[in-house]
Parts: sequence; C-alpha cells; structure tokens
Amino acid sequence: MEKIDKQKIKLKQHIDESYDIFFGENLFLFIVKWIKKNSSEKRIVIITDSNVAELYSDKLKAEFNKENMKTEVFIFPAGEHSKNLETAMKIIAELSLKGFGRDSLVIAFGGGVTGDLAGFIAGIFNRGVDYIQVPTTILAQADSSLGGKTGVNTAYGKNLLGVIKQPKAVFIDANVIKTLPAQEIRNGLAESIKHAVIKDKHFFEWIEKNLEEIMAAKPPAILTLARYNCKIKGEVVEKDPNEKNLRKILNYGHTIGHAIEHLMNKQGKEVYPHGYAVSIGMMLAARLAIALKTGFKQADLEKQEQLLKKASLPIKIPREIQNEEILKVISLDKKAKNGNALFCLPSSIGKMAVFDGEYSTIADKNLILRLLDETR
Ligand SMILES: NC(=O)c1ccc[n+]([C@@H]2O[C@H](COP(=O)([O-])OP(=O)(O)OC[C@H]3O[C@@H](n4cnc5c(N)ncnc54)[C@H](O)[C@@H]3O)[C@@H](O)[C@H]2O)c1
Ligand SMILES: [Zn+2]
Repeated sequence: MEKIDKQKIKLKQHIDESYDIFFGENLFLFIVKWIKKNSSEKRIVIITDSNVAELYSDKLKAEFNKENMKTEVFIFPAGEHSKNLETAMKIIAELSLKGFGRDSLVIAFGGGVTGDLAGFIAGIFNRGVDYIQVPTTILAQADSSLGGKTGVNTAYGKNLLGVIKQPKAVFIDANVIKTLPAQEIRNGLAESIKHAVIKDKHFFEWIEKNLEEIMAAKPPAILTLARYNCKIKGEVVEKDPNEKNLRKILNYGHTIGHAIEHLMNKQGKEVYPHGYAVSIGMMLAARLAIALKTGFKQADLEKQEQLLKKASLPIKIPREIQNEEILKVISLDKKAKNGNALFCLPSSIGKMAVFDGEYSTIADKNLILRLLDETR
C-alpha cells in the first residue's frame, strides 16, 4: 500500500454566543438605537407576517427613518402554512434581487412562525447573517425567540429543516401584546404554565394570581410573565444548548401534545393551536407521573388542571381522535427510542423527575392507553 499521510484541520471552537434580552414598553426607538450602536451591519431587513406588518411595520420603519437608517420590509402571509421553504426562498430571492449581501441584519418581527422562518433565512442566507428577535406573541416572548432553534416545515415533517442560529439580541415589548387575539394569549400561556410546572413553583403561583391581568394584556403582567419565562428557558438552554439531557424537560406535555396536534391538523381545516395540544399533553403526563410514582401528587394534578381550566385551555383529548392513532404517532416520533415514546414527567410542581440520570422515561403501552381514557 502507498504511504498515506494526513493533515489535521484544527477546529476546536470556543465561541461566545451570549446575547441580551431586553424587556420594556414601546421599544421600537430603543431597538433602532441599539442596532446603531451595536451592529456594524449596514442593511436592515425586517421580516414580518401580514398581520404584524399591518399593525406595526410602519411604526417600526418610521423609527429607523428618524435615525436616517434605511430598511426594507419583507412581508409573508400570516400563519403556520407559510413556515416553509417556498416562503423562505421567495424572501431570499427578493433579498438577492435587491442586492442584499453579507452585511445584512435581519429583524425577525412577529410570532414564532416569523422567528423560526426569519431566523432560518438569517442562518442560511450568504452562509449566515446576523439577526435579532422582536417577538410579538406570548409564545414567542416566552419560548421561541430564545434558544436559537430556527427552521421550516416540510411535507415530511414539522421543523424538519433548520439550523441552530442564536440571535444577537431579543427585544420583548409588552405593548404589542395589546393587539394579540385572546386565543393567542391562551396559546402562549400553555407554554408558560409548562415552564412553571417544570421549574418554578413561585411562577406557578404568580400565574394563578395574575391570570386576569395577563389575559387583559396589562404591560406590567406581560413583562413579569416574559421575565419568568425567559429566566426558565434561558437557564435550561444555557446548561444544555444542544438538548443532550436537561433541555428535554421543555418537552413536558409535548409527547402526547405533538400527536394530538398532528392528528387534529390532519383532519381539520384550521390549524389546531399548539398550546391547546400541550395543555392536554400536560394532563396526560401528570397522570403518568402519578402512575409511575415520581412524587407528583393528585393534589398537584388538580392544581395544574384548575389553572389550565382557568386559562380556558382544553384538558381533554378531542373526540375526533382515537387512542390507537395517538399511540401510533408517538411511537413514530423523532424523539422516540426503538419505537418507545419518551415522556418528561414532573415530581412536584416546579421540579422534574430524573430516571437513571435522564430527564425522560418510557412507559408501558397499556398504561398509556388507560391514561388516554382517563384524559377524555
Ligand atoms: N424555535 C423554537 O424554539 C420554538 C418554540 C416553540 C414554538 N415554535 C414555533 O412557533 C410557531 C408558533 O408561534 P406563534 O404561536 O407565535 O404563532 P404565529 O407566529 O403564527 O402568531 C400567531 C398569530 O398571531 C398574529 N400576531 C402576532 N403578533 C401579533 C400582535 N402583536 N398583535 C396581533 N396579532 C399578532 C400572527 O400574525 C398570527 O396570526 C410554530 O411554528 C412553532 O413551531 C418555535
Ligand atoms: Zn411547545
């Protein structure tokens, strides 16, 4: 054999991807000033959906104009159905035709759909350009705008194509929530209640006490809600950015939740709200926690149920879908192990159970079937 030699490309990286989350009211001018001071990028790309554009894009653009900064707004039709490669490619084509390059700064201005889509575009355009998140839904302010997960759906799966791309900063403006429909507030609250159950008993109690203020989109309540949510998600992401173990706790309620969402969306014309599915999923997971004796008590389950009900979130599996269908979907889930669905379960309100060092466990199919029945 001929002599083979080699050369190593050393790529050990120690990158600091830290970023700030700013909380406040009427932040548009502050955002413009922050960009002016902190970003060397010359061309500002605002990506937003049709609803948010109608309500706020002129106002945001006006603040840039005041500072003599040029911006271009790219609008796509609001809704989950837009979170795909086609929309991403349309925007990328427009960006290219208009001569945008590596010196672009993308602003993801909207809910989770906008954040995922715009973050994805920022992740791939010119092999990646900087972006910031300006989340405008409770869900995006609580969850999707931090952590760096971006992506689009394909016919083969939700969020199937994506990149981890951390934003340069996140700006949480409580005022924009005033125009958010009640259903979207509830939808985002499900993830907030999830955060409370997995990590913070005080947060749980705070939501119980302040639910009306939240539903009325009162800025002080919205800001406190966002601060709690970001603290919890931020801590989890910091410790486990690549979802090796701890980050899995964010999937509480999502095993059954995703299956319900998937099955409802297969039959329905309207998109079944993710938060509704997670709410039901949390009820099943809480029952499973009791059955597997994690320490979670019947009284904890009742507290969770009461709060979800008070937030007008569903707690029962929709009649349209069958237990067997759910079982099939969860066994095919990308997070399942050898066809066994994994569940993250609480041991009390504010704490997650650990199974042999792991934050998730499998469960017997017959037990899941029984608990599915109980969640009807
Ligand atoms: N990246 C992540 O870590 C992560 C986490 C959770 C969810 N997600 C993704 O987030 C998406 C769902 O996000 P969402 O619930 O925010 O949906 P969304 O972005 O579709 O927003 C919901 C609706 O509210 C409207 N809207 C947004 N802001 C508004 C405002 N201030 N006033 C009035 N209307 C407003 C939108 O136009 C839309 O019709 C899903 O695609 C999900 O996969 C991502
Ligand atoms: Zn979720």
